[in-house]
Amino acid sequence: MQEDRRPVATDTRLTPVRHGLHVNGRTVTVEVAPGTRLLYVLRNDLALNGPKYGCGLGQCGSCTVLVDGRALRSCAIPVRAALGRRIVTLEGLAEGGRLHPVQEAFVAENAAQCGYCLNGMIMTTVALLAANPDPSEAEIRAGLQANLCRCGTHIEILRAVRGAAARLRAGRADREKAGSDEAGSSQA
Ligand code: FES
Ligand code: FES
Repeated sequence: MQEDRRPVATDTRLTPVRHGLHVNGRTVTVEVAPGTRLLYVLRNDLALNGPKYGCGLGQCGSCTVLVDGRALRSCAIPVRAALGRRIVTLEGLAEGGRLHPVQEAFVAENAAQCGYCLNGMIMTTVALLAANPDPSEAEIRAGLQANLCRCGTHIEILRAVRGAAARLRAGRADREKAGSDEAGSSQA
């Protein structure tokens, strides 16, 4: 019998490759197969454990991260789809040693029991309020409806989102006032 000399097909998605990723304002290099889910890269290679593994199927929201400002499920995204895009995880929200206003609001409302869903709730809220700074109750419920909480902390979470919206609006108003005061004093 003649030997089969055809090359063995290799799945390049499974071969580790060096990638540069933009995560939380830094460029980092990882060596993983391009098909590796972004969640695994964040948790296993970059030790960013804010995003949680819940269902692994894109259905619970616990793994949510921001990609170019959009709340996406990192368990459902291959790392190759995140190349050249700005990824922000829960760890990247705080600035200057201060929690993000959405995080502050969740703390203030004690909006957690086990806390497993919180990463997804907070990241989804950040994206929601960036798009809609003053959402109605119905818009908040619609925005978070695909994020599952097994503990039943929904009432506190809704309060936290309303509180976060108020904090963000107040912060924006303060900055605008400071800007106009500064412009006024430089013209005086
Ligand atoms: S772990 Fe990603 S959506 Fe559930
Ligand atoms: S607080 Fe436990 S799953 Fe939401």
